[in-house]
Amino acid sequence: VFQLLLMDGARPRPNICVTAVSDSSGGISVSATCTCTSGLPLSKILSWKQAGNRLSDFVNQDSDSEIIHHVDTMQMVKAVAKPSDIVLDATPVNLTDGGVGLACCRWAAQQGVHLVLANKAPLVLGYRELLHSSQQFPVSRLEFSGTVCGGLPVVNVGKRDLASTSRLDSVQGIFNSTSNYILSRMANGEDPADALAHARTVGIAEADASLDLQGYDTANKLVIICNAVLDIPAKLCDVDREGMTHLTLSDVKEAAKSGQVYRLVATAERIENEIEICDNDVDTEEEKRMRICSRFKLSVRPTLVPSDSFFGQCVDTDMSVVFISDEFETISMKTNEKGVFPTAAAMLRDCCSILKV
Ligand SMILES: NC(=O)c1ccc[n+]([C@@H]2O[C@H](COP(=O)([O-])OP(=O)(O)OC[C@H]3O[C@@H](n4cnc5c(N)ncnc54)[C@H](OP(=O)(O)O)[C@@H]3O)[C@@H](O)[C@H]2O)c1
Repeated sequence: VFQLLLMDGARPRPNICVTAVSDSSGGISVSATCTCTSGLPLSKILSWKQAGNRLSDFVNQDSDSEIIHHVDTMQMVKAVAKPSDIVLDATPVNLTDGGVGLACCRWAAQQGVHLVLANKAPLVLGYRELLHSSQQFPVSRLEFSGTVCGGLPVVNVGKRDLASTSRLDSVQGIFNSTSNYILSRMANGEDPADALAHARTVGIAEADASLDLQGYDTANKLVIICNAVLDIPAKLCDVDREGMTHLTLSDVKEAAKSGQVYRLVATAERIENEIEICDNDVDTEEEKRMRICSRFKLSVRPTLVPSDSFFGQCVDTDMSVVFISDEFETISMKTNEKGVFPTAAAMLRDCCSILKV
């Protein structure tokens, strides 16, 4: 995000003043009394981090703006963020308790601070809660277009452009570029461990790669789509998930003989003859939630598809989605993301949307 903000482009970058930033070692912010409107020295901080340093050790030499150090992210956000500010969360996914991401998002949403997320965990564990908080006074915005397929506007198209359709029948996709990259390289005879090493080099693999390979990252994205696009309160436990680590080079070779390839496909498919749910029919909130979710069959699994099909043609770092609805029929979208910039651009897109640039 800092690199994009610093880039000289023909189009003006959103008028964002970065006043605080943190990493795993702690945070830094401009002094509250600072009159400087340019915020933190982004290029110096970028070089500092790119050289492998910790923010807690950052010293701002030859500058008139005073830097304040904070012991951790939560303390920094509480000290610095004010209503109408934007907190951008790109911390690692923590599905155990949401980690620092969910804690900061909870606090920020209650204070009227806008949120822009690349981190999926706060949404997977607390989408309804965060949305509710953000809608209470002081109202704020909850934006997360980069969480599902980075720059591919899956969430935006689903939430905005398909909102008018009376019936969204299915959402299917290849949502994880690391597993797709490995599966396509395996089809060329490459060892999966070598393919994963390359995915790590370009920065697309999760810090914990089992999230990619066991299908959790894909399932996380499906849960976000369920909540934000299909309006069903799904949780990870509702997704029938199977990873791809058991697939071997010989499985992939065998599939190729019949013109097929494996893809890790996420599916949310409407079940016909859905039952109307009335409050009297169910005992607990959890039962009600499960009944609403049972309107869709949710799965993530390695799937054999013809190699010349839309999904079969999604190779290497491609990601894709197919929406099927009654009025718009079939809409297919695909992206090829070779690095981290499209997700950073999606975070800036969300900031622009909040700032209405
Ligand atoms: N990479 C992508 O293409 C992509 C696409 C969509 C979504 N995402 C999501 O974006 C997030 C970041 O991905 P990434 O690839 O940039 O991961 P990453 O390279 O592992 O970077 C994670 C960053 O979070 C920092 N961090 C860790 N704990 C922190 C804490 N307590 N407070 C503040 N910062 C903390 C780390 O600090 P240190 O520098 O000190 O280690 C590091 O800078 C993840 O949630 C991921 O799922 C990534």
